[in-house]
Amino acid sequence: MTAGSAPSASSVHQAATDGAGAIPRHVAIIMDGNGRWAEQRGLPRVAGHRAGAEAVRRSLQAAADAGVEVLTLYAFSSENWRRSDDEIADLKGLMRYYLELELERLMDEGVRLRLIGDYQAFGPLMTRQLEAAVERTSANRRLTLVVALSYGSRSELAAVAAKLASRAVTGELDPSRIDEATVEAELDTAGLPDPDLLIRTSGEVRLSNFLLWQCAYSELLFTPVLWPDFDEAAFHSAIEQYSARQRRFGGR
Ligand code: FPP
Repeated sequence: MTAGSAPSASSVHQAATDGAGAIPRHVAIIMDGNGRWAEQRGLPRVAGHRAGAEAVRRSLQAAADAGVEVLTLYAFSSENWRRSDDEIADLKGLMRYYLELELERLMDEGVRLRLIGDYQAFGPLMTRQLEAAVERTSANRRLTLVVALSYGSRSELAAVAAKLASRAVTGELDPSRIDEATVEAELDTAGLPDPDLLIRTSGEVRLSNFLLWQCAYSELLFTPVLWPDFDEAAFHSAIEQYSARQRRFGGR
């Protein structure tokens, strides 16, 4: 925060949870390594994604049991459209199947579904199914599951710039009053706390255009475990490592 500027809602939250021993309110995960997991077993890539969907179920349960409030999963990036048509169709089929199968469990576990990204790009059928699931789970309060679909952080930020610019042109918004809170209110993640902990599996050490604004002060954890092997124990170990860290948010 620059001297004199008002702290944003998320930075106030962060200051309040500073200190060792805390459970992260918001965990975000870049689920990576499905393809390599399948390759190591001589299986088609779709088998890795299927095993990855099982890992989603386990992490969701572990997060709810640990008292995490928000779990954000990077299910499909805006760059993933470069994959083969077959793989995209497999992923789409799997996500639709998972959603149909898991909706009752989301209800039973008090999980509210929220979407970020250009999920309409998956077509009208999947869009309707996703929006129906969001609507059906909207009153649930135990945990918010945020699924990033056709998501890219740079295009999210460009869209915010376009929205603010058009409000400035109509005179509704004074450009000199644009601050962090103004931007945050237009992000896909508006109203959610920033991720306290960002996990990436499979040994890759990069952010891949995921939540670049929101992760400004997140603790980053990179693990060599491939996503389909990421189980409850791995989730709890990540929470323990987070709890042992001292967060400073730019202070001392
Ligand atoms: C990255 O592994 C994973 C993905 C691009 C897809 C993630 C999708 C799932 C876990 C399936 C179901 C999702 C939900 C929300 C039910 P990769 O294919 O890039 O692996 P690689 O780097 O080893 O090739």
